[in-house]
Amino acid sequence: MILMKDVYKTYPNGVTALNGINIDIKQGEFVYIVGPSGAGKSTFVKLMYREVGATSGSIIINDIDMSELKERKVPFLRRDIGVIFQDFKLLPKLSVYENIAYALEVIEESPRNIRKRVMDVLDLVGLKNKARFIPDELSGGEQQRVSIARAIVNHPKMVIADEPTGNLDPDTSWGIMRVFEEINAKGTTIIMATHSKDIVNTIKKRVIAVEDGMIVRDEHRGEYGYEV
Ligand SMILES: Nc1ncnc2c1ncn2[C@@H]1O[C@H](COP(=O)(O)OP(=O)(O)OP(=O)(O)O)[C@@H](O)[C@H]1O
Ligand SMILES: [Mg+2]
Repeated sequence: MILMKDVYKTYPNGVTALNGINIDIKQGEFVYIVGPSGAGKSTFVKLMYREVGATSGSIIINDIDMSELKERKVPFLRRDIGVIFQDFKLLPKLSVYENIAYALEVIEESPRNIRKRVMDVLDLVGLKNKARFIPDELSGGEQQRVSIARAIVNHPKMVIADEPTGNLDPDTSWGIMRVFEEINAKGTTIIMATHSKDIVNTIKKRVIAVEDGMIVRDEHRGEYGYEV
């Protein structure tokens, strides 16, 4: 599913963000990525959906070897990956419905299928009644739930979330976590970079701690209490 061997990443400005990463994440796992600011968490997850490429080392995602993946084939990799950001990245002029449908239209679904899938996913995140709203008319938590709906509407094999609750109040964050647990229970792999001690210590899952571009701890679910 996600296999990295001796992965290094140095950005063009000379900063080395990842310093020898080795990891094996299986389909269906729920994994937190934790560590201080600048540790390399975002860079680590960006390698998984080919937002950045490795400087050296081997990366296999969903059986695809990243070193052999041509740029024009990247959209095929991304079909199986839903990505969620801290700042939502919704299209401001489109309604909630359209923001989600857009993800399906680009892969040429039939209009009828699109409607059913968008409404099903809006139901899952509890926003069926706000389908016609535009992002500006929603709270931060609601906007984040739209971005989750958009990320999962294609039924991706994995969801990568980079600080999805970073801008949200605690109650809303727990709501977002419930949605993640629900889609994880259906078999979707969840990779979530977070600074939230509360979440990591309450909803116990595998924890990968990154510091100075290296994995310093990798603890499977519930084995230890974890202090972020
Ligand atoms: N596009 C880029 N170009 C150059 N350097 C970068 C780039 N993106 C990140 N870096 C550097 O790589 C290092 C790791 O950054 P990264 O964003 O992966 O950290 P992070 O753990 O996600 O931090 P945070 O918790 O603040 O989000 C930092 O030193 C950062 O300055
Ligand atoms: Mg980051």
